Amino acid sequence: MWKSIQPAPPDSILGLTEEFKKDRNPQKVNLGVGVYKDEDGNTPVLRCVKAAEKTLLETQNSKSYLPISGDPSYSAAVQRLLFGTGSEVVSTGRAVTVHAPGGTGALRVGADLLHKFTPDVKVWVSSPTWANHNGIFGAAGAGFEITQYGYYDSKSKGLDFDKMMTDLESATAGDVVVLHTCCHNPSGVDLNNEQWKLLAALAAKNGWIPFLDFAYQGFGDGVDEDRFAIEEFAAAGIDFFIGSSFSKNFGLYNERTGAITVVTPGEEEARVAMSHLKTVIRTNYSNPPAHGGLVATLILDTPDLHKMWLEELAGMRDRIVHMRRSLVKGLAAQGVDGDFSFIEKQRGMFSFSGWSDEVVASLRKNDHIYVVGGGRINLAGLTTANIEYVCKAVAAAMR
Ligand code: LMR
Repeated sequence: MWKSIQPAPPDSILGLTEEFKKDRNPQKVNLGVGVYKDEDGNTPVLRCVKAAEKTLLETQNSKSYLPISGDPSYSAAVQRLLFGTGSEVVSTGRAVTVHAPGGTGALRVGADLLHKFTPDVKVWVSSPTWANHNGIFGAAGAGFEITQYGYYDSKSKGLDFDKMMTDLESATAGDVVVLHTCCHNPSGVDLNNEQWKLLAALAAKNGWIPFLDFAYQGFGDGVDEDRFAIEEFAAAGIDFFIGSSFSKNFGLYNERTGAITVVTPGEEEARVAMSHLKTVIRTNYSNPPAHGGLVATLILDTPDLHKMWLEELAGMRDRIVHMRRSLVKGLAAQGVDGDFSFIEKQRGMFSFSGWSDEVVASLRKNDHIYVVGGGRINLAGLTTANIEYVCKAVAAAMR
């Protein structure tokens, strides 16, 4: 059968990592995939994770299947983190959370669930958005119709909130609007609290369903601050979905540790949602992998480990902020034309550099620096050791 079939194109982000791994140049720098690197250029196992794993190794006595929805204590820990302590959503039981294999798995389970009941609605994604949003919502069921709402303004290198609101005025009841809760991927440009309030009011007025992609909790301003959007949608009393991930904030990338949370009007509806989530999962991967969820739960539920995690997370966040500053300074020191101060205003791992396709291609070919097409850079790939090399290369490429 394969003779007449053409190969699929490589993934725009993970395909770049494959190329990077093959590159033998010792000076190579990966500013592509959204993976945190420390000052030594390593993606560390967090200390709190190591400690939790040690405990698990000593105490775990079975590898039997988890329930279809995952370990209930994982779901409870995830809900406390997403909604904060004392949240009405949690105490009334109107949300259900299931363990999904990573943030991507969470989005896909949510998309499959939505497609089961509302296959004809539109799915709105930001312009631009994480490339895989299109892939995931296009692959669920027979595929959703996907449309874009205005988001990034390439002139101001900031948010075009007016365009976003105008476009989303025409999203109708039942449409699904994918939103980046914080640390927008790929631009690093977020809504402020006032803007989230206005957006939540619009969702409530028009009846569209927010689907919050929350892969970077703690990388913006902090674990509590970054959930502001969730609190607003919860207060609006509307249906919404949250796809969350512990890949970045716990460094559990290859443990595929995420969750899909469905917020409904009440406990009865939540029970119905859970029954259908279980069918979606059972017919896809049956039940989730255990290790990452056990680790995250142990950390979140053990005060000392929880504290250690918050400190380690703050360390990652601060290092990225430091690298943002160093990049702006470094580009200026190399005489690169233009105002790059926007890089310092953006949050999370990513920034839209504004570097043209030619610059991106030249960096790759001449300097072994890997940047995602469109110019998205992962600031966490920069270190004190490679920043001057990168800034010099950018200066040469832009000349
Ligand atoms: C990214 O955007 O680089 C990450 O979310 C990794 C991925 O799966 O694309």
